[in-house]
Amino acid sequence: MPETMMALRAHARGGAEQLVYEPAPVPVPGPGEALVAVHAAAITFAELTWDLSWTTRDGQDRTPVIPSHEVSGTVAGLGPGADGPTVSDEVYALIEFDRDGAAADYVTLPAAHLAARPRSVSQAEAATLPLAALTAWQALVDHAALKPGERVLVQGGAGGVGSYAVQLAAILGGTVTATGSARQRDLVLSLGAATFIATGASGTARYWAATPPEYDVVIDTVGGGVLDASYAVTRRGGRLVTLSAPPSAEKAADSGVRAMFFVVTPNAAELAQLAALVDEGKLRPIVSQTFPLADGGKAFESATLPHPPGKTVLIVR
Ligand SMILES: NC(=O)c1ccc[n+]([C@@H]2O[C@H](COP(=O)([O-])OP(=O)(O)OC[C@H]3O[C@@H](n4cnc5c(N)ncnc54)[C@H](OP(=O)(O)O)[C@@H]3O)[C@@H](O)[C@H]2O)c1
Repeated sequence: MPETMMALRAHARGGAEQLVYEPAPVPVPGPGEALVAVHAAAITFAELTWDLSWTTRDGQDRTPVIPSHEVSGTVAGLGPGADGPTVSDEVYALIEFDRDGAAADYVTLPAAHLAARPRSVSQAEAATLPLAALTAWQALVDHAALKPGERVLVQGGAGGVGSYAVQLAAILGGTVTATGSARQRDLVLSLGAATFIATGASGTARYWAATPPEYDVVIDTVGGGVLDASYAVTRRGGRLVTLSAPPSAEKAADSGVRAMFFVVTPNAAELAQLAALVDEGKLRPIVSQTFPLADGGKAFESATLPHPPGKTVLIVR
């Protein structure tokens, strides 16, 4: 094993402008940890704004940091007492936000967080799942407790999380409506949404004004004004799951809605279920665009440029 690898790192808190492609030490797996040779790593555009991307859980600065918290790769080594995976296993995982991510040749993480990657798709496609699809799954299943036949609204149905929320809500038996920009309509309908509502300030306002609250479950991946509009379209007694920020307790109470926010957590069993859905042809990973690891800064900068729906992926090897 080499002592040095190439990585995308930020030495000071900020945005994409802080990211440099440079040599870094190959991490050493600790007790219970695995070393994974990264093939592909997906990014979440907002991750550089999250506190835990920069600090430990008790708030200590941990720069330089490596971004990208979803990985598809091969187990290259195991720390003491790491049970489960073996060297050469092809795996995928969500990497916790308070540790270095996968924008590097190698990453370490608890071996218990690894699941066998879906084998019917590419490494880049597999890398789109562990954060985004797990968030959608945990929102719908663990938090909203979606039941078959319920009406689901996914705000931002073409995004990294939203494209999985649409598919999984349909797989779970929901009747899905999704919002997004007009150019995303065909893709979102092809993912299993029964109805698509094109947003754009006036169009959305007209729609919400003309339509009474009707959704049993609303998953808001957008936040801001879209979250504000989401209380009123969730039926009284319905569930509103917010992903970008905690909801307003006051607005939830006024609308008679159970509103909740959570942060996705690693779950190998749920990743195994998602991999099975992919390999059964029921769940489709959507790769928006790929960048070589060396151009990782450009990948983050592309958040503000027009880009296709789905997840942006760094190709490492
Ligand atoms: N709590 C958690 O555990 C967790 C986990 C993952 C992500 N997140 C958060 O979830 C949010 C979404 O993440 P993501 O990776 O899915 O982001 P993303 O890939 O950028 O997706 C956002 C989607 O929302 C769409 N959108 C923007 N404005 C909209 C509007 N007014 N109406 C309808 N759709 C609109 C975007 O369309 P355009 O491309 O046309 O703008 C895009 O398709 C972020 O805030 C992220 O931090 C939270």
